[in-house]
Amino acid sequence: MFTHAFRQFVFTAAVLAVVSAIPTEELEERSSCTISSVSTASSISSCSSVTISAFTVPSGSTLSLSPKSGATITMAGDITFAKTSSDGPLFTIDGDDITFNGAGYSFDGNGADYWDGEGTDGGVDKPHPLLKFKGSGTYSDFTVLNSPAQAISIGNSDGLVFDSITVDNSDGDTDDLGANTDGFDVSADDVTIKNSVVKNQDDCLAINDGSSIVFEDNTCSGGHGISIGSISSDNSVSDVTISGNTVKDSMYGLRIKVKASATDASVSDITYSGNTITGIDKYGVLITQSYPDDDGTPGTGGPISDINFTGSTTTITVGDDAKRLTIDCGACSGTWDFSKLKITGGSEGTVDSDDATISGGSY
Ligand SMILES: *[C@@H]1O[C@H](CO)[C@@H](O)[C@H](O)[C@H]1NC(C)=O
Repeated sequence: MFTHAFRQFVFTAAVLAVVSAIPTEELEERSSCTISSVSTASSISSCSSVTISAFTVPSGSTLSLSPKSGATITMAGDITFAKTSSDGPLFTIDGDDITFNGAGYSFDGNGADYWDGEGTDGGVDKPHPLLKFKGSGTYSDFTVLNSPAQAISIGNSDGLVFDSITVDNSDGDTDDLGANTDGFDVSADDVTIKNSVVKNQDDCLAINDGSSIVFEDNTCSGGHGISIGSISSDNSVSDVTISGNTVKDSMYGLRIKVKASATDASVSDITYSGNTITGIDKYGVLITQSYPDDDGTPGTGGPISDINFTGSTTTITVGDDAKRLTIDCGACSGTWDFSKLKITGGSEGTVDSDDATISGGSY
């Protein structure tokens, strides 16, 4: 007769046979993996090397990557986003110490399928942002083509570097259909963006919240220039360096914009150096606490302090109808060293700097 012990033995042996039938490579860590669809993107958590091949993210789907800490990710083809009614971001990546090499390939948002001149304020729903980055690491050498609205959003950073990124929304210039196509929106600490190119119809860079941010050696054209803000209530931006950038054919050159309605907000320690700015049709430099007005009735809930133009000269040439420098402060303070700021062309703006003392510069 079969004893209980014997039955237990048979059962255990059967289980062992099943376990040993699982291929060992699935139990071990895979070193290299390929993403070729939305579903294959969900199984990269153990891959230290990931290749992304060309594919289309179908309507209704979004692409989310949670790579292994320290992973290297390399693009080997373009990722295209089919027209969708999904909310953005359509692509999210969040990992620690990631090395991401776009190898010159693109994220194509098919913006022309959405653009109607109304941006995110009306008309067709536009997924935004197109791409969202969190975590830490270095992301380099890819293009964002034709984002429906905002292109790249950076949040929850533990140290992120973006090097040699192109945001090309220049197709949106046709009939003024592209709008709110911000290049980089930053709400994060410890972020560097360098050697990048943005062609768009809104802010090249907008820093909404965060500290220890560097924006250097980038080129912006067609849009609204390099911005701190707009700053909303409870948001603060500090310790920012904007250096060596080129801004061409844009509405503003450099702007700090705090919402008139903001409370418990602040902007401090902003340094501009060695920027070259031409073809500006509204303001060369605008520092305002009356946003959304350019120069209106400023609020006092988002004080601005320590704004400097130092290091190498920042040279700005504005168009005939533009103002050179306007400051519209309700609550500004400190000594602002503008000695390395030179603005020519257009007409003089209005400088109302409240308690801030501005020294040097020609504007
Ligand atoms: C800006 O300049 C002022 C006046 O020279 C100086 O006290 C301050 O430390 C400078 N701020 C930064 C962030 O460099």
